[in-house]
Amino acid sequence: MILGPDPRCQTRDHDRASIPCMTSWPEDFAVRYEEWSAQMTEDIPFYVQLAREADGPLVELAVGNGRVAVPVALATGRTIVGIDTSPAMLEQARASAARSGAQLDLREGDMRDFELEVPAALVYCPFRALLHLPTWADRRRTFERVAASLRPGGRFAWNAFAFDHARAAELDGRRAAEPVPHSVRYAVADNRIDITLKNGATSSLWWATKNEWLGLVDVAGLEVEALYGGFDRRPLDDDSREYLFVARRPGV
Ligand SMILES: C[S@@+](CC[C@H](N)C(=O)[O-])C[C@H]1O[C@@H](n2cnc3c(N)ncnc32)[C@H](O)[C@@H]1O
Repeated sequence: MILGPDPRCQTRDHDRASIPCMTSWPEDFAVRYEEWSAQMTEDIPFYVQLAREADGPLVELAVGNGRVAVPVALATGRTIVGIDTSPAMLEQARASAARSGAQLDLREGDMRDFELEVPAALVYCPFRALLHLPTWADRRRTFERVAASLRPGGRFAWNAFAFDHARAAELDGRRAAEPVPHSVRYAVADNRIDITLKNGATSSLWWATKNEWLGLVDVAGLEVEALYGGFDRRPLDDDSREYLFVARRPGV
């Protein structure tokens, strides 16, 4: 089983205390993350543009190695608060920020529980990282934390794949050499994809439908401002393979 209680996780309220805190991102995955993510660059201008439009604090959830946060900080000349559960990923982000001169305020923490001192103008979560949350309740908590952390009119932006069953079935059980050697398992009944590296580290993603995302926006009291089907801001259509959501906290 790939999930296990994560002793680093802090519970914030009685709601969370009854549920074991899980992580789907083993530290061993961090070792190959730079190579894993090297081809993913098209999302950066999208998040940079949103950050430029934001008049206030900027926050990246699941900041990882700073792949997006560093260019966003450099492009805007502002500090990005970066939250992540993985000390190994945060260490890489720290090193990347030091090399580039980007200002990152890195915090070890869980996006299901995060709190900010000052409400944010933009919270964003790139590279499908919300799919690392195993259950709808985990996502609901995260969306509620985001809504509570945004100033009125503040935005929440994220992207996630639109799940393709045919492609998942094709990949199930296969090994691939690129971007780093890995194998894929498709657990249909748990709507889960497991990606296992040669070092045995498994990262899991639980896919979500458009209506699940819309439900999360709704219960958190946010509203959808835009839903794109690509980083060039093309509208979502039936053939899109990526959801790019921009939601906002009402009030301005
Ligand atoms: C695919 S990486 C994304 C990193 C970065 N945002 C990027 O775009 O390259 C996923 C990240 O999510 C983090 N993560 C997974 N579950 C988390 C949680 N519950 N709270 C905060 N970070 C989490 C992992 O530690 C990992 O760094």
